[in-house]
Amino acid sequence: MQQIIDALEARRRAARAGGGPARIATQHEKGKLTARERLEVLLDPGSFEEYGLFVTHRATDFGMAETRVPGDGVVTGWGRIGGRLVYVFSQDFTVFGGSLSETHAEKICKIMDLALQNGAPIIGLNDSGGARIQEGVASLGGYAEVFWRNVQASGAVPQISVIMGPCAGGAVYSPAMTDFTYMVEGTSYMFVTGPDVVRTVTNEIVTHEELGGASTHTRISSVADASFANDIEALLETRRLLDYLPSRAGEKAPRRETTDPATRQEPALDTLVPASPSTPYDMSELIVRLADEEEFLELGKAHAGNILTGFIRLEGETIGVVANQPLVLAGCLDINASRKAARFIRFCDSFEIPILTLVDVPGFLPGVAQEHGGIIKHGAKLLFAYAEASVPKVTLITRKAYGGAYDVMASKHIRADVNYAWPSAEIAVMGAKGAAEILYRSEKGDAEALAQRTAEYEARFANPFIAAERGFIDDVIMPHNTRRRLIGAFSTLRGKIVAGPRKKHGNIPL
Ligand code: HXC
Repeated sequence: MQQIIDALEARRRAARAGGGPARIATQHEKGKLTARERLEVLLDPGSFEEYGLFVTHRATDFGMAETRVPGDGVVTGWGRIGGRLVYVFSQDFTVFGGSLSETHAEKICKIMDLALQNGAPIIGLNDSGGARIQEGVASLGGYAEVFWRNVQASGAVPQISVIMGPCAGGAVYSPAMTDFTYMVEGTSYMFVTGPDVVRTVTNEIVTHEELGGASTHTRISSVADASFANDIEALLETRRLLDYLPSRAGEKAPRRETTDPATRQEPALDTLVPASPSTPYDMSELIVRLADEEEFLELGKAHAGNILTGFIRLEGETIGVVANQPLVLAGCLDINASRKAARFIRFCDSFEIPILTLVDVPGFLPGVAQEHGGIIKHGAKLLFAYAEASVPKVTLITRKAYGGAYDVMASKHIRADVNYAWPSAEIAVMGAKGAAEILYRSEKGDAEALAQRTAEYEARFANPFIAAERGFIDDVIMPHNTRRRLIGAFSTLRGKIVAGPRKKHGNIPL
């Protein structure tokens, strides 16, 4: 028996060695951890249980019969994060460049199936040269099997992708269909066609980093939700993100004990909104002051800064926050902001996460580029996502809520549950000056008359009380009491049940 055990240990050791010391050294020289080292950082110590350690590929072409490496370039299994079950795969770049063969795909599919069946998140650590070139269509089929499961899992269990090396060609579509994508700065990239093909087809000369590095995807394309300086930071942040999420649809995210009092007052909020309506202020300060322990996990920070999205906790409960940011484009809604917020809202709605909306919006951003770019369709995404979401929705208007943007930003009319306003709120069709110029066009050129008309409009509409008289606003609240009032509102909504009309699914304007 001892011999048998020794033989097993030897086999395990050989399999765990991956592509061998030289390739592991190269991986480290690039500043990257190995597939197994990454899992050690990601998962609770000692919690990883591996499946498929001895799986090898079945290919025989191009001399592949002689090159079977146990594990076949991907480490798969389950482990725990903060004590909670997660299924993981971690591609091993030291084995065939982490490329995806038929069997490599089967290993990923196995843990995806188990995650769906057992109701646990799926986390993929991607570091791969793409389709295993020696296997041809078998490899492409393997990718498609993974894609299909990404779609089955979407809205059923949270899916997180961490890009920690190359991710090119059709391979990018698996991360693209997961809920959140994190990247590592300098060592990861994603593109459908690489710089060489781009140069041949379009004559554009571009580096890997410019075409699909972390900065490109967090700032410009919004393919990635955040990026981090190195593997360790990215993995620790993935743990932090997971802590805000439930394990499966229909379950609540775990409640975290907090010592932060629900009744905590914030006198500084009474002076957050400047006296002049055109002076910006930082909405993230409000978010932080509201949150338990002042902690805000922001997502999509580098893209569409005119809207903020992310998670906080109130009384220990995960809350998704969507907030206009007056510091960027005066907080206007544009194409990017609408898309960013709509996708975040749909995630929250899929996974029972209540939504807090903080409104200071002067309207949709005007311009030919916006109209030609389809702001009508993209703005409709946000409207659709809010109206469709059946999770608890609480809205607070801090200052401007003008025009169509008032309706869109979780107004009572599209079924927000509780709508509050600060006394500084202005709810109107448009800003007072613009309104006076249109209504009193005949008095154009008469600056004094215009100023008076503006003041009249302001006096009538630049406040929350007309909306409150109609019940569109449930209460006008003291800024310093905002945390207490929001916690109270969300506490009343824990039993919320909404039965919508019978249908297969809606048709969100994509
Ligand atoms: C098989 C691969 C491979 C692949 C890399 N390797 N990619 N083996 N299939 N796709 C192997 C290399 O031969 C090498 O083996 C080892 O992995 C490390 O690769 P290097 O090139 O030495 O590493 P590096 O210089 O860091 O370059 C990494 C790389 C490059 C940029 C990823 O390897 C590369 O361009 N690979 C091909 C990428 C590609 O075109 N993939 C197909 C994309 S299309 P040895 O034994 O020498 O160490 C695709 C379609 C998906 O993926 C479609 C889904 C629908």
